[in-house]
Amino acid sequence: MSKYHMRGEAKTLHDIMAAKAESRKLSVVTCYDSAFARLIDRTPLDIVLVGDSLGNVMMGYDDTVKVSLDDMVHHTACVSRVLQKPFLVSDMPFFSYKVSTTQALESAARLVQEGGAQAVKLEGGEEIAESVEAITKAGIPVMGHLGLTPQSVHVLGGYKVQGRGQEAETRLLEDAKALEQAGAFAIVLELIPAELAKKVSSAISIPTIGIGAGVGCDGQVLVLQDLLGFDDGFSPKFLKKYAQVGEMTISALCQFDKEVKNSEYPAAEHSFSE
Ligand code: KIV
Repeated sequence: MSKYHMRGEAKTLHDIMAAKAESRKLSVVTCYDSAFARLIDRTPLDIVLVGDSLGNVMMGYDDTVKVSLDDMVHHTACVSRVLQKPFLVSDMPFFSYKVSTTQALESAARLVQEGGAQAVKLEGGEEIAESVEAITKAGIPVMGHLGLTPQSVHVLGGYKVQGRGQEAETRLLEDAKALEQAGAFAIVLELIPAELAKKVSSAISIPTIGIGAGVGCDGQVLVLQDLLGFDDGFSPKFLKKYAQVGEMTISALCQFDKEVKNSEYPAAEHSFSE
């Protein structure tokens, strides 16, 4: 095999960055395990993000700040072992990059080298630009994340819409430009007014990926389990549920329970003869 062998039909960084100029919208979902990664690989989705939403979705935490770098490396590896087509981005978790540029470089390297990520995502603006530049220069593509940055939930005072008011709007625009300048290849815009997201998207040349940021972004991201409708009780305004997998799962499990208890399962066709 050639040293330059690439994954078949794989989305590359070039494809992602060219999308904006070609007016192609980017579709992004989160994923944390190989079972879902296999299914995602059968779709035309552009990017898979091993988000630190791992903490809420898979680990039973009530926020993302408890997720460790080891957790992220482990789950990124579960996905990268089977994912072939979408571009794979992994989240740098809480305090794995804010101590120093050296720490940021070392954490990013683990996600790529041990986890198999193709790029990393960091939350923050101008204040992390130096680390974004260092990681990019070290050969690891960086995705930014502005607006509601869940790792700062205690400073933000909850999961609220960000970027409201002139000062916040100007700050966000400056942060987006600083990330672009530092070499980021894309920026997630989370929970900000749609008009502001549109403004940011036209002010920078790299793609914006929105979540709760309206249709004016260059792409959209949703947490996989949210869009599949795992949790009936979680229905924020921005979320569209494309399936009712939670209900389907409960109903299948109840049926299994009933059939085991009344000896309907296993039937003859599920049993072996001598
Ligand atoms: O962790 C995550 O899932 C994310 C997305 C919501 C963008 O950061």
